[in-house]
Amino acid sequence: MAKKPVEKQEVETTGHEWDGIQEFNNPLPRWWLWTTYACIIWGIGYVIAYPAIPLPGGATPGLLGYSSRGEVAADIAAIDAMNAPLVARINELDLTEIATDDLVGGEADGFAYNGGQAVFQTFCAQCHGAGANGFVGYPSLIDDDWIWGGTIEDIHTTISYGIRHETNLDTRISEMPAFGEFLSKEEIGDIVEYVGSLSGINGAVATEENEMLFLDNCAACHMDDGTGDRFAGAPNLTDAIWLYGSDVETLTHTVTFARAGVMPAWEGRLSESQIRQAAVYIHSLGGGE
Ligand code: HEC
Ligand code: HEC
Repeated sequence: MAKKPVEKQEVETTGHEWDGIQEFNNPLPRWWLWTTYACIIWGIGYVIAYPAIPLPGGATPGLLGYSSRGEVAADIAAIDAMNAPLVARINELDLTEIATDDLVGGEADGFAYNGGQAVFQTFCAQCHGAGANGFVGYPSLIDDDWIWGGTIEDIHTTISYGIRHETNLDTRISEMPAFGEFLSKEEIGDIVEYVGSLSGINGAVATEENEMLFLDNCAACHMDDGTGDRFAGAPNLTDAIWLYGSDVETLTHTVTFARAGVMPAWEGRLSESQIRQAAVYIHSLGGGE
């Protein structure tokens, strides 16, 4: 049974009708209309006050001169101002005094340690690992086996000037020669055997001949007993910690072609205070001397 058409004479219909459903021409509800007007006015005000309309050279600036970038810059400036006395304190202290200073020290919860950790995670972790445990060719910074030295001054020097960072005049330099150029394969094999015997690996045995070869070619940097020389950045070859590896193949490659790990200098890229904070952080990781 078809429904009776609604009879409502006060409101006109638009004349549209579908299957007996008529469209009335009711006015929009008041609250809805006013909300719409309010939104339009607010929108115009917003466009005038804030950056809004994108243009090729950037958005229209807006009368208030607000920008989210500016807000961040202001926040950073406020934090910098707040930290200024701490930063100044770090720079005026002797390196060895920072970790125990009342204001900036306190080891794992101190300003210097936290700042150093942040620097480390941002600038150092990609090479040394998030836990500072290192990778092949990138030394672990949490053990007490140091190539260039583990006092806070040594660490500070390494970070500031880098290692074999050619454009820095104060960088730490020393090059192990590629012995493949002057020694025969047999001699290198003998030397590798001797190196293995120093730390008792690869079933290696020391003989008079291979010891002589080591003393003649290697001891100038790695010392007669193979314990290395920090001044030359020559690693200790008698312990179980290897930068590149201790199997016969890796040792042969190291001796034949040499290695020359590069660590960037941070002087000029980080502030002195950041470098000091990083040094405090690394020195506290367990291997600090
Ligand atoms: C591009 C990779 C790279 C980055 C980034 C890097 N390092 Fe290094 N770092 C090295 C290498 C490679 C060595 C070892 C160089 C060598 O063979 O003597 C090294 C060595 C060191 C040493 C000396 C270790 C020792 O045993 O004497 C310290 C300390 C150090 N890095 C700290 C840092 C700090 C702190 C940062 C961040 C501010 C950093 N490094 C960033 C590559 C890097
Ligand atoms: C002029 C100094 C110098 C001489 C001479 C020298 N070395 Fe080195 N050696 C170094 C330096 C510096 C490194 C560290 C290279 C790096 O960090 O990239 C090194 C690294 C090594 C390593 C890598 C250690 C590791 O932990 O992976 C081995 C092995 C080694 N040398 C063996 C030798 C042998 C064997 C000789 C003699 C045939 C020799 N070296 C002669 C300076 C020297």
